[in-house]
Amino acid sequence: MNKKFFWLLIIGSIVFATLAATRSVWLDVEKDLTFLRAYIPKVTMLPQEKNEAYAQACAACHMLYMPSMLPARSWQKMMGELQDHFGDNAELEAAVVSEITAYLQSQAADKVENIYAQPMMALLKDEEMPMRASDTMYFKLLHDVVKPAMVVGNPDVTSFARCDTCHHEAVAGRFNKLNARIPNYFLQGVWKKLEQESKQERQP
Ligand code: HEC
Ligand code: HEC
Repeated sequence: MNKKFFWLLIIGSIVFATLAATRSVWLDVEKDLTFLRAYIPKVTMLPQEKNEAYAQACAACHMLYMPSMLPARSWQKMMGELQDHFGDNAELEAAVVSEITAYLQSQAADKVENIYAQPMMALLKDEEMPMRASDTMYFKLLHDVVKPAMVVGNPDVTSFARCDTCHHEAVAGRFNKLNARIPNYFLQGVWKKLEQESKQERQP
């Protein structure tokens, strides 16, 4: 065999082996990532399309709630009784009411698909017509660790309706359990409280 060809074969094999090895390293990284991704917290997105009439009429007293927080039938009912809206009068002109109702219904939890709407609807009974997110089973499950003292008894929160007091990106429809910060419970934290509680529970 030609000497030159021999060396070419050796070098070629080394290059090939190195490439193969690198590739297998990459493949392992990929596998690890797939494994790790299962542990990276999900961000729950409730996207909402922009609607001028809705933004104009409904942002005066609270954040603009995502339409997919409630089913279409709930919006229908709420928009039909705006003169008595959670103790406030939020009445609007009939034309504006129908425009906003159509918008809210078209984006409602039973009309769109997202990571929140689907399980929320699945846990909702047909006859249920929640007026608040916090009236639904799915919301209660997500907020299992949040005790009344942290909400109603918390002067900086007062109500679950004020999503944006704990979820800083609520207005953009982004909810992530890892960056939910309950005012007055930050640092000494929910987690510490829970730890204490579970210790107390374990004591006979
Ligand atoms: C005059 C003030 C006012 C206006 C205007 C207003 N709201 Fe409200 N809304 C309230 C109050 C007060 C609550 C109860 C808040 C609480 O419990 O802290 C509320 C609560 C809600 C809730 C329940 C949130 C939850 O999950 O607990 C929804 C949904 C809602 N409003 C939708 C609307 C829509 C849609 C409009 C526009 C048509 C609107 N609001 C306009 C005062 C208002
Ligand atoms: C008192 C503070 C507080 C308020 C108010 C609040 N939340 Fe939360 N929320 C939390 C906490 C804390 C968690 C994480 C719970 C856990 O880790 O088990 C959470 C979790 C969630 C999640 C799950 C996030 C994920 O990681 O997928 C969603 C969705 C959510 N909240 C939506 C809402 C909506 C919508 C509102 C308003 C109608 C709201 N929350 C109001 C404290 C709050």
